[in-house]
Amino acid sequence: MLVEEGPEDRWQVEQLFDLSFAPGRELLSSYRLREGVEPVAGLCLVSREEGAVGGAIRYWPVRVGEVPVLLLGPVAVHPTRQGEGLGAFLIQSSLGRAEELGHARVMLVGDAPYYGRFGFSRLDGVTMPPPTNPDRVLGLALRAGAWDGVNGTVTRDLEPFVASPSYGT
Ligand SMILES: CC(C)(COP(=O)(O)OP(=O)(O)OC[C@H]1O[C@@H](n2cnc3c(N)ncnc32)[C@H](O)[C@@H]1OP(=O)(O)O)[C@@H](O)C(=O)NCCC(=O)NCCS
Repeated sequence: MLVEEGPEDRWQVEQLFDLSFAPGRELLSSYRLREGVEPVAGLCLVSREEGAVGGAIRYWPVRVGEVPVLLLGPVAVHPTRQGEGLGAFLIQSSLGRAEELGHARVMLVGDAPYYGRFGFSRLDGVTMPPPTNPDRVLGLALRAGAWDGVNGTVTRDLEPFVASPSYGT
C-alpha cells in the first residue's frame, strides 16, 4: 500500500534511511540543501505492508540559479524487500505525481546505472555543493526541454514554488 508520508510515519522512515545508508548520511552535501526547508507535499511516499515500512521516498525543493527544481531523495527499500521492483514503483509513482502537479524538472545525486532506467541522465552545467562527484548529478525533464538552458549552482529553496497543474515553470 502506497501512502503519502504523514507525521506518524516519520520515525519509521528515518529508521529505514539509517539502515539503508552509510553512517553520517546527514553530512552529505544534499542534506545542506534540505536544512530548514520542508519536503515537497504530495510527493513523499511510504510503502507499508502489515504495518511495516517496506520503502520510502522523499523530495525537496531546490533552485538551480533562479529555476525551481525537485531534488529526489532519499529513496530506500528495506533490505528484505530489495529487488522486487518496489524502488521502481516508488520512483515511477512519485514522478507521475510530480508531473501531474505541474513540476517541470527533477534532479538527484545517485547511480546513473540505476536511475538511467527512469530516464535520468548526467546534468552538465549543474553544480552540487562539494564534495559531489559530477557523474552522479542526474536530471530528468518532466516537460519537454525543461532542462534546456538551466545551469548553475544548486541552492536551497527557501520560498518553494507551489506546483499546480495550471501553472507552468
Ligand atoms: C536503490 C534501491 C532504492 C532500489 O530499490 P529496489 O526495490 O531494490 O529496486 P528495484 O527492485 O526496482 O530494481 C532492482 C534492480 O536495480 C538494480 N540496482 C539496485 N541498486 C542499484 C545501483 N545502485 N546501481 C545499479 N543498479 C542498481 C538491481 O541490481 C536490480 O537490477 P535488475 O532489475 O537488473 O535485476 C534499494 O536498493 C536501496 O534502498 N538501496 C540502499 C539505499 C540506496 O542506495 N538508495 C539510493 C540512493 S542513490
